[in-house]
Amino acid sequence: AKRTTDVLRAPVICVLGHVDTGKTKMLDTIRRTNVQDGEAGGITQQIGATQVPASAIKERCKMVKDFDPEGLKLPGFLIIDTPGHESFANLRSRGSSLCDLAILVVDIMHGLEPQTIESIKLLVKRRTPFVIALNKIDRLYGWESNPRKDVRQLIKSQANSPQLEFKERLQKTVAEFAEQGLNVALAWENPDPNEYISIVPTSAFLGDGIGNLMAHIAQYSQTTHAKKLAYCEELDCSVMEVKALPGLGTTIDVILVNGALHVGDIIILAGTDGPIMTPIRELLMPQPLKEMRVKNAYEHFPVIKGAQGVKVLAKNLEKALAGLPLFVAHREDEVDLLREQVQEQ
Ligand code: GTP
Ligand code: NA
Ligand code: MG
Repeated sequence: AKRTTDVLRAPVICVLGHVDTGKTKMLDTIRRTNVQDGEAGGITQQIGATQVPASAIKERCKMVKDFDPEGLKLPGFLIIDTPGHESFANLRSRGSSLCDLAILVVDIMHGLEPQTIESIKLLVKRRTPFVIALNKIDRLYGWESNPRKDVRQLIKSQANSPQLEFKERLQKTVAEFAEQGLNVALAWENPDPNEYISIVPTSAFLGDGIGNLMAHIAQYSQTTHAKKLAYCEELDCSVMEVKALPGLGTTIDVILVNGALHVGDIIILAGTDGPIMTPIRELLMPQPLKEMRVKNAYEHFPVIKGAQGVKVLAKNLEKALAGLPLFVAHREDEVDLLREQVQEQ
């Protein structure tokens, strides 16, 4: 299939990390929503997806010193939220398998925790590039928040005590990553992005550093990973969740990385009783900056191009399996081959 780096698709970005490090809060701050407060016990129990358009990235990154909004080539981000609770290892694994790159959220007060280490192992195994958000910097004693300031300047402008505490906790975290065999460095001190993983200090709660984090990801993905993000017509689509919804029946939430889905396309996907083949009845998407897993006023589309999180309505999805690829049969003679591919998964 044709590939050119002239047209980039949105990178699919997975947010991973130990329970309660602030993954959902970070997305809430980016979206200006409040999904986290509505979660039972404050615990994420599903994978979510949010489209962040280029306009929102530009707006958020205004205060970042070395970011040029005119130079943004990406149409946006597609961000996948995952649970950090230990019992949802399957969802972390699924999320990390769907993404181009990841944000690993670490609580600066706690350093590396068991599911941080589990997440690192998933990312290293799949060779997924990632960025570290060293979160909850507002909890450093005496911290003065200012989300409208570049976080590098913001750290410099703090009183002695929070600056010192920041340095100590950063060094401790760097040492813990070294124990896992990883070199990490503050994003603006990173000597070589191919060897060192960048750290961006953040407060998901107050917004400090969120602009820097988004700018860093935009820069990093459109330079170092431009080839991978070249829009390609070949379909790359996976089932993220299977959900029964009142009035809609059983639907599937898919991550469409590349290619397009059309209403009427014959999709072939894995099911508990063998491959399912069914025509797409409707294609829905939440509005930009709305979470897919929260009940929304979905918008209808005749065709959707990647990368997007898409809700697919079709018959016979009751036995669909999540976490596996979905195919489209364009010609009659492809059907048997695709069914075999699905069967083999
Ligand atoms: P799971 O999805 O359950 O793994 O948790 P999570 O990583 O999504 O964390 P969540 O967003 O649920 O935040 C956990 C708690 O930490 C909430 O009470 C948040 O308000 C709080 N929190 C998150 N980020 C920050 C931060 O930057 N600063 C402070 N002070 N609190 C934060
Ligand atoms: Na939580
Ligand atoms: Mg969460």
